[in-house]
Amino acid sequence: MQEVLPEDGLIRKLWIGETAKYREHVLRLDPESRRNRFAGGVSDEFIRKYIDVATGLDAVVHGFFVGDSMRGATELRPLGLRFPRQAEAAISVEKPWQSHGVGSALLRRTLLAARNRGFRHLHMACLAENRRMQQLARKFDAELSFDFESVVGEVESSRPTPLSLARELMSDSHGFATAMLDLQTRMLRA
Ligand SMILES: CC(C)(COP(=O)(O)OP(=O)(O)OC[C@H]1O[C@@H](n2cnc3c(N)ncnc32)[C@H](O)[C@@H]1OP(=O)(O)O)[C@@H](O)C(=O)NCCC(=O)NCCS
Repeated sequence: MQEVLPEDGLIRKLWIGETAKYREHVLRLDPESRRNRFAGGVSDEFIRKYIDVATGLDAVVHGFFVGDSMRGATELRPLGLRFPRQAEAAISVEKPWQSHGVGSALLRRTLLAARNRGFRHLHMACLAENRRMQQLARKFDAELSFDFESVVGEVESSRPTPLSLARELMSDSHGFATAMLDLQTRMLRA
């Protein structure tokens, strides 16, 4: 499952200790993308607190990395014991990297993670006028149906299969190997 991503970017899960990279990415979003990401205007202070809480919970965060910087992210968070099969998803890509397939690649990864964790319903806070997100969601019609008024997406395939688990494992090991190689190269250059 190898996507062609801009600038040799790489999609992998966020590691422990990388919260600052996620925070910096979200703070860099232009005003319109920030508003769309949070379904309303939010301050820098709100974002700092939000990222601390969001990464402290049981979230699966995938990042799109160019070099050492995170330029896009998806977040998948269980809604808790009262809603065992439901999760919340959110996505953001920085403006210069939008419209290059990054959002599609990130959402694909998150849908796989949702499926493998048995989530049947994905909630996404998305403004009704956010056409780009709607276009993106439409690409995954077969796996996900969105209702933009009630802002609920449903993952149709509820059961993980050995193949879907293997696909996530393969993506994780590829992301890890590439990140290690990148680190090694930068250490050699230093
Ligand atoms: C929504 C968002 C994640 C899409 O990311 P992206 O990297 O631009 O997405 P992609 O390049 O994979 O494009 C996905 C689809 O969007 C549509 N699209 C892309 N660029 C577009 C543009 N300039 N105008 C309208 N639609 C566009 C296309 O249908 C595209 O699919 P295609 O390339 O197969 O035709 C990104 O715009 C973003 O971060 N927006 C701000 C945050 C946000 O809105 N989050 C959603 C709520 S949580």
